[in-house]
Amino acid sequence: DRAIKIAPSILAADFADFGAECRAIEAEGCDWVHVDVMDGHFVPNITFGPQVCRAIRPHVNTVMDVHLMIAPVDPFLAAFGAAGADIITVHQEAGPHLDRTLQAIRDLGAKAGVALNPATAPETIEYVLDRIDLVCVMTVNPGFGGQSFIEAMAPKVRRLREMIGERPVHIEIDGGVTAETAPLVAAAGADVLVAGSAVFKGGSAANPAPYGKNIRAI
Ligand code: DX5
Ligand code: ZN
Repeated sequence: DRAIKIAPSILAADFADFGAECRAIEAEGCDWVHVDVMDGHFVPNITFGPQVCRAIRPHVNTVMDVHLMIAPVDPFLAAFGAAGADIITVHQEAGPHLDRTLQAIRDLGAKAGVALNPATAPETIEYVLDRIDLVCVMTVNPGFGGQSFIEAMAPKVRRLREMIGERPVHIEIDGGVTAETAPLVAAAGADVLVAGSAVFKGGSAANPAPYGKNIRAI
């Protein structure tokens, strides 16, 4: 049985208090910190860039799991590597040279992830399975937190687990993960669950008690 990791997304956190929020979720027992970078071009929303990642780095002692919802992505990889990202995940849909982009991430010393939007087939990453440490299955259309989980993604998770075989590749689920939806994807083979609204609801850096309860519920 694969131990399931929980990676709260700071998209749902207090944008005026990221350092305290990262410390709070780690103190409440999260495994990774999921950092959603959005450029207003690849997705219809803007969050923050490498400077914020650099600023929160000292407040993240577990794993800084950076999800780049940006295009083009290559010009910014070095900045996110320098900011201290442990994992840099790029979208399969963000550009034509995924193999080269994944190599570039590993050359920076970070682990390489690829994210698949809901309509993107798992077969699109068949030829780069040896260049990745993680595949992120979007279970919502990227851009916003608090959306509904797309149940049709469970078969994609099963297919990816088959394709990955014995390779040391995490399957991360991203979007609409709650105590209700988590079992579906865990059973299908996922081992990392991103959760924004389900973790941060009802809490604050000043009052992180609900964070721990919310994390344990998932
Ligand atoms: C969406 C982001 C997700 C999102 C998850 O584009 O990639 O990580 O923050 O938020 P919830 O868990 O609220 O769906
Ligand atoms: Zn994300």
